Amino acid sequence: MPAGQQPILELQGITKSFGGVEALRGVDFALYPGEIHGLVGENGAGKSTLMKIIAGVHTEFSGRFLIDGRETHFRSARDAHAAGIAMVHQELSVAPDLTVAENVFLGNQPTNALGLVQWRRMAREAGEQLARFGIDVDPMSRLGDLPIGLQQLIEIARVLFSGARIVILDEPTSALSPPEVERLFATLRRLREAGTSIVFISHFIEDILLVSDTVTVFRNGRKVAETTSAATSKGALIEAMIGRGGEALEHSYTDDLMLPQPSDSPVILKVDQLSLSRSLKDISFEARAGEVLGIYGFMGCGQQELSRVLFGKLKPDGGTLAVEGTPRTFASTAAARRAGVALVPESRRDMLFHQEPVYKNISIGILDRISALLLKPTEERDIAKRQVEQLQIRPPVVGLDLGMLSGGNQQKVALAKWLTYPPKLLVLCEPTRGMDVGAKNDVINIVRDLRARGLAIIVLSTEPETVLSLADRILVLKRGAVVREFSNEPVSKDRLLEAA
Ligand SMILES: Nc1ncnc2c1ncn2[C@@H]1O[C@H](COP(=O)(O)OP(=O)(O)O)[C@@H](O)[C@H]1O
Ligand SMILES: [Mg+2]
Repeated sequence: MPAGQQPILELQGITKSFGGVEALRGVDFALYPGEIHGLVGENGAGKSTLMKIIAGVHTEFSGRFLIDGRETHFRSARDAHAAGIAMVHQELSVAPDLTVAENVFLGNQPTNALGLVQWRRMAREAGEQLARFGIDVDPMSRLGDLPIGLQQLIEIARVLFSGARIVILDEPTSALSPPEVERLFATLRRLREAGTSIVFISHFIEDILLVSDTVTVFRNGRKVAETTSAATSKGALIEAMIGRGGEALEHSYTDDLMLPQPSDSPVILKVDQLSLSRSLKDISFEARAGEVLGIYGFMGCGQQELSRVLFGKLKPDGGTLAVEGTPRTFASTAAARRAGVALVPESRRDMLFHQEPVYKNISIGILDRISALLLKPTEERDIAKRQVEQLQIRPPVVGLDLGMLSGGNQQKVALAKWLTYPPKLLVLCEPTRGMDVGAKNDVINIVRDLRARGLAIIVLSTEPETVLSLADRILVLKRGAVVREFSNEPVSKDRLLEAA
């Protein structure tokens, strides 16, 4: 924090709630000219919310907001833009159906005297800008056709070269390869030299320490630490992020928990040297009957791609898959299902039918195996009733449209499908995300029940608590590669974060 200098941006006592949820509580934050300010904190700590206040996305909050020492109140993102603030959002906000050039100039395309877009000029300038950032791509190609990492880079380039004096990057590196991260950091340093102020949010603490001058730590809506990078360490930051003691209502997994001895039951799935363009690198592992294998990593670490490969939605470039010793190449999700592999993806929307009653949603997994003709409607309802009872789905009314249920209860319905005719391997993506404690415990119990029936289960999650609450063995995935396996040893939240 440069002594004696005036901050370019200062927030005092910022409090912000969404309905009943306090996302920020009395937060102070200052950003200085020519500073790279790192922000760290667990999911839900309030980082994005604070940045969206700065970027004029959230305009309702209490507290003071000063730019160049003058009190300001943005009414929109446009106001923030006019004040020289630009942000790369966590959720990619590119327009996939537009060209690369249109995306680079989103909102301010060059026009001629008649108001017509100057396509050739736009394409040339976009190409030049991207080349400065080391991106070699045809500016007239459709953005949505490019790999996600490249889309992310294009969005970052657009914001970095927008001429803003305050640039906010919310977890920009999740889908980038190491050389791309290097290039990004070189660009950030150049912008800093030119006096730009940068806020950089990342889960990769090494990256934060490498590139930031100052680091601020958020926990549970509060700023809990601010320090120079030089004066802190990865361990100290992780400790500040997760806190100690009984602050959390739920099990916080800050203490070591002992993983069991590796199972010697039959191997259900064997994955060998699996690779997928830029997303997965030589992934090998086994999943055994009656075992829950947790796969943990930050957003963008390759989990989604891995689950899609396992379920036949993506074709790997290399490597093999075998189910119970038989090599498989799943040409489709139907082929994966026939081989006994079931997937409950994170967006349960893909799997469930919100306009259909609960019992239909449950029986759909069954109808897959026995013809619809063999299952009488009364039977269909009876099976569903038993599941609803067993899983304590609330309300216990099988005729209700699924869309009327809470997220936790919808997740139970998604799992219920697999209880009557269980698959050999069940892949669960973020099975407890966004649930209250009660629903989480119910899901944990269902998963344990399925494990006891001898299913091999793989749980993929970006939340340490989720894998720690479910897994017998844990793999840590980082930028597409397995970097650590925890088995028959103590593990805790900070050990996982250290490894990722
Ligand atoms: N638009 C929104 N509506 C309701 N709740 C929100 C919204 N955005 C964030 N939250 C909640 O505010 C809290 C902080 O979220 P966020 O700022 O996104 O955290 P972080 O970026 O640190 O992961 C979380 O509890 C989150 O669920
Ligand atoms: Mg966020």
